[in-house]
Amino acid sequence: MFNIENFDIKLDTEFIGRNFIYAEELSSTNTYLMDKQNEIITNGSVVLAETQTHGKGRKDRVWYSAPESNLTFSILLTNNKLLHKHSNLINFAASLAVSVSIENLFQIKTDLKWPNDVLLNGKKTSGILLESSSTGNKINRLVVGIGINVNQNSFQGSFNYPPTSIRIELGRNVEREKLLSEVLNNFELLLLKIEKDSSSIIEEWKSKCNMIGERISIVENDSEKFGIFYDLDEEGFLLLKTKDGIEKIHFGDVSLR
Ligand code: BTN
Repeated sequence: MFNIENFDIKLDTEFIGRNFIYAEELSSTNTYLMDKQNEIITNGSVVLAETQTHGKGRKDRVWYSAPESNLTFSILLTNNKLLHKHSNLINFAASLAVSVSIENLFQIKTDLKWPNDVLLNGKKTSGILLESSSTGNKINRLVVGIGINVNQNSFQGSFNYPPTSIRIELGRNVEREKLLSEVLNNFELLLLKIEKDSSSIIEEWKSKCNMIGERISIVENDSEKFGIFYDLDEEGFLLLKTKDGIEKIHFGDVSLR
């Protein structure tokens, strides 16, 4: 069982996670916060579910997570000035927060895989799904959904990318409560950083992405593109160097060639 007191004691934020909703079971924590009925829920609220019956991954994939072993949660951002200017950077803040937190707490190195996966020893331990709703062309509600494989022992089935957990890589169980508060603490700090200097977050993210400079392929829908992972632009889009020049990529699954 998740111990809310142990989580709360380590939470050191102004607004992220100050309203904390714990659920035994939800369809998806993202769906819960996107639901019109839950519009009263305030900026910075966090909802955590022990089990998601319809956990969602990117590109309509399913996010499987063993109950009570991992962290599956979503953070709600509303009325935040970042939403209008820098909503894409929030993706990068989230994966960076997970990466920095795992490294700080457990002294194991993580890598970041564009756009927002966190890898341990080349395998995926965390994924992030952003969902938003807009009025006109203004985003008024952004939900940052984070799944972290924490204490899961093994993974069955077929995966788009090989999965792992912190437990598997570290060789011992870790305290989920402490990890969640560390992630939220770091996420809030990174949001403040974006407000002050939006370019620093991309620089920090890039320093943890070892695919930059490598030959890669990018699959999006039915098309596959090849080239060199040249750089990220200031909003975090991938710049692919091909024989025809530099192409900006907005979405896709990247792999090394
Ligand atoms: C991916 O890598 O494909 C993204 C996975 C995102 C999973 C998290 S778990 C909490 C939140 N609720 C969901 O339904 N999905 C996200």
